[in-house]
Amino acid sequence: MGSRTPEIQHYPVLLEETLAFLEPARDGIVVDCTLGFGGHSLAVLEAFPKAQVVAIDQDKVAIAAARQRLSEFDWRIDIVHSNFSRIKKVLNGKNIDKVHGIIADLGVSSIQVDSETRGFSFRFDAPLDMRMDETADIPTAAELLGSLTETEIANVIYQFGEERKSRRIASRIVHEREAGRPIRTTKQLADLVARVVPRSKQQAIHPATKTFQALRIKVNNELDILEQFLIDGAHMLAENGILAVITFHSLEDRIVKNTFQRLAGKCICPPRIPICVCGAKKTAEIVTRKPIVPTDEELKRNPRSRSAKLRVIRKIEN
Ligand SMILES: C[S@@+](CC[C@H](N)C(=O)[O-])C[C@H]1O[C@@H](n2cnc3c(N)ncnc32)[C@H](O)[C@@H]1O
Ligand SMILES: [Zn+2]
Repeated sequence: MGSRTPEIQHYPVLLEETLAFLEPARDGIVVDCTLGFGGHSLAVLEAFPKAQVVAIDQDKVAIAAARQRLSEFDWRIDIVHSNFSRIKKVLNGKNIDKVHGIIADLGVSSIQVDSETRGFSFRFDAPLDMRMDETADIPTAAELLGSLTETEIANVIYQFGEERKSRRIASRIVHEREAGRPIRTTKQLADLVARVVPRSKQQAIHPATKTFQALRIKVNNELDILEQFLIDGAHMLAENGILAVITFHSLEDRIVKNTFQRLAGKCICPPRIPICVCGAKKTAEIVTRKPIVPTDEELKRNPRSRSAKLRVIRKIEN
């Protein structure tokens, strides 16, 4: 059965919910900014027989797998290797000036974290790479740990991992580096963090989880590009178009929440200024007052969905 589908256990997160919000885009153009293994794109193609999909991913491995998986729909899906921060350029290059739905299911895919060679996970000993786009001319995680200062490393681990022991971890990393033992593999890093952050009895997650998340965010510049991407995405929406974003940690969710509020016209002027000078303008409406989270059933089926949050806006005018 299922010769098209590799044995990877893959559950697209918050799928039914996302599709329901995308209903107004059913006869239009939907952009899947994070194709991954194609779960959300496949569902859109199946549920909306007239929709055209433009799918973006910066990971060529994901693109190859999804291309094969979605081959029967190749006349309705256009797959592009790019960073979604270039969404405007990608669409303009195809002479598309407005779209009706945009999905971004942020973060890493199962294909990436389950890869034994790409360094995203401490479950496999591999070179500490972590680049989602292996063709990009950007430093790997190992290269960053070899070149950043101790303070810079500590700040990355603290800001992007919310790891309280960030300074001690950074100090050990630099100590090892100065002793001629630079951190080059996942195992070296996981062992080092485990020595600094002992696993508590209640703690279900591996002590290196936060440090790995932080490095991945830094390597792929995940947070810096997010706000502008949301603004550009909203800009590309036709009236009544839908932008649906799934996040996996509070740092991302906060950016999405704040940017959506700005797009919905929230004024951020200091309270005592008599007139608004921040340029607040309402171009979208928030559809999800509170973020949508997975049902108990989804959590049971797919524990990886546990921190997922879906937020949606609807474009009202340009
Ligand atoms: C959570 S997965 C998406 C899974 C997909 N929705 C599915 O159901 O198969 C996130 C994907 O987005 C890609 N990605 C993350 N940040 C990106 C960016 N800035 N530009 C393009 N692709 C990105 C990753 O390479 C990864 O394949
Ligand atoms: Zn204002």
